[in-house]
Amino acid sequence: MNDVHIAHATQLVKETHEGALPRPVIKSFFDEPTYTASHVVYDPKTREAAIIDSVLNYDPASGRTSCESAQAVLDFIKNENLTIVWQLETHAHADHLSAAPWLQEQLGGKLAIGAEITRVQEVFGKIFNAGTRFARDGSQFDHLFRDGDRFMIGEIEAMALHVPGHTPADMAFVIGDAAFIGDTLFMPDFGTARADFPGGDARQLYRSIRRLLSLPAETRLFLCHDYKAPGRDFYAWETTIGAQRESNLHVHDGVSEDEFVEMRTKRDATLSLPNLIMPSVQINMRGGRLPEPEENGTRYIKIPLDTL
Ligand SMILES: [Fe+2]
Repeated sequence: MNDVHIAHATQLVKETHEGALPRPVIKSFFDEPTYTASHVVYDPKTREAAIIDSVLNYDPASGRTSCESAQAVLDFIKNENLTIVWQLETHAHADHLSAAPWLQEQLGGKLAIGAEITRVQEVFGKIFNAGTRFARDGSQFDHLFRDGDRFMIGEIEAMALHVPGHTPADMAFVIGDAAFIGDTLFMPDFGTARADFPGGDARQLYRSIRRLLSLPAETRLFLCHDYKAPGRDFYAWETTIGAQRESNLHVHDGVSEDEFVEMRTKRDATLSLPNLIMPSVQINMRGGRLPEPEENGTRYIKIPLDTL
């Protein structure tokens, strides 16, 4: 466990919280069909910005893609006069398609994901029999982040943290006093992400989460999903480290690694796969690019039978 990086991230959050470093502004967008929260994070002074976990709409019945969700993000960026410097993906999502290439075409910004995406490409390249033309070296992305990598959004300092468990490549991005934690934790009343996809690991997820939970209590957390916990009738995607430590259903302070692993493993055994896992992984492992058209000009996605 590389605590040097957590120590730096802690300092970054504290100095931002105390006003010594500039604080990012965050605007979130929620895509209800996939329960996904996308975030635009920007430096109010330079107006440089990053887009995190965008959504390309996909209707599985018709096979139609559309850009409604991403259009709302695009409109906001244009209205606010922001300059996109990063298109960040916390991981290769299994429940929605990324709109990063579409947004990048119009707005620019470097497309980035965790360096371990190569392991995801290896596993799913085999499952989808993607052939030798599918590179498994992460070259579909402009930048691959490793644990502790630092980057800037205008004058806002940021750091990438590797938080595997849900998938081998999951990253969290600490940007000023805010952390974008992808699929690790959900809202405290809902718990944690599943760890049973190929390459997932409940024990690793617990360790990644404990590492995130060692950030300062005041750290603002922005999640990738919300499913409305039983008894809550509104969507929510922002919380804090303090709230998670106090009341997260699965990993509040005092829950041991073994207890978590037992709970997570039992719960995962009851979950069905996400509706969009086949198109999502196939496209997101390619950086969100749709498969090349066949000779009739139509693009196809594959469904491997009896595999997952
Ligand atoms: Fe996910």
